Amino acid sequence: MEKKELIREIERLKLEKDALILAHYYVDGDLQEIADFVGDSYALAKKAVSSQKKRIVFCGVKFMGESAKLLNPDKEVFLVDKDALCPMAEMITGKDIEAYRKKYPDLCVVTYINSTAETKAHSDVCITSSNALKIVKKIQADNILLCPDKNLGTYIKSQLEEDLKDKNVIIHDGYCHVHEDFTYEAIQEAKEKHPNAPVLAHPEINPACYDLADYIGSTSGILKEAREREEEEFIICTEKGILHQLQKDSPNKKFYFTDLEQLCHDMKKLNLEKLRDCLRDDLNEVFLDEDIMEKASQPLKKMLEMAE
Ligand code: 13P
Ligand code: SF4
Repeated sequence: MEKKELIREIERLKLEKDALILAHYYVDGDLQEIADFVGDSYALAKKAVSSQKKRIVFCGVKFMGESAKLLNPDKEVFLVDKDALCPMAEMITGKDIEAYRKKYPDLCVVTYINSTAETKAHSDVCITSSNALKIVKKIQADNILLCPDKNLGTYIKSQLEEDLKDKNVIIHDGYCHVHEDFTYEAIQEAKEKHPNAPVLAHPEINPACYDLADYIGSTSGILKEAREREEEEFIICTEKGILHQLQKDSPNKKFYFTDLEQLCHDMKKLNLEKLRDCLRDDLNEVFLDEDIMEKASQPLKKMLEMAE
């Protein structure tokens, strides 16, 4: 089927099924174009809550669809590809968290939204890269666990040094392979090729590279920075799917990536055909155990409250 025809079919099905299509900046550009809303993890969670539609269809990885379901138990939430997972989300379990809790009875468990529903059910509050600093600053407990991403944890700790100086901050050992694999040398090389281009980086990148960054923030933070800064060219250190929105937002600016070509293969599993099939055949609805729903929705609600 021709792309144009496929897009028409998706538009028709979207109306017929009363669906809101949400997409993350890392998915294929065609999906970002057809989505009703494209955003970072925090904006997507908020959008899911404010939607009046009967159905939410998520162009993103599993934890994103699960989070939408946890925040909207009465809505039908669907994933375009049920096999698109975030490997980092699997790097901590509820059992691991309970082991930390045994060691530190007053522990506040701060969990990146890139986590499974089971992990969230053992957590106190969720964060995303765009609200983490605001939320962690407000935490009263003496012992704080930042999980699962060790790089986001390291970034938060470095930025809140003064606020956290009397606290014991424990950082779990998970990581996103897409961002962890950025190297100092590769960014340095990109800087030598483009000496006038500031480096805009995601906090999930390897902390060994932080020194080279002119700005560190979430995907929407990177987009805002590129839009608002007066420079005409930028080196981008995050997943390459963001290029679609960067070029849309700032068509006259130039964006460079390192030679490492970092891609999230899970995000790239999604395409227009799978979105059409998901809408047409009601595929991949998110169902969660009632007990998990009840427990795992709490830290997400807490996140929305604390990020206000
Ligand atoms: P944000 O869009 O919230 O910055 O998250 C990046 C990411 O890795 C999502 O998987
Ligand atoms: Fe997970 Fe990294 Fe892919 Fe985001 S880019 S979904 S953190 S593996």
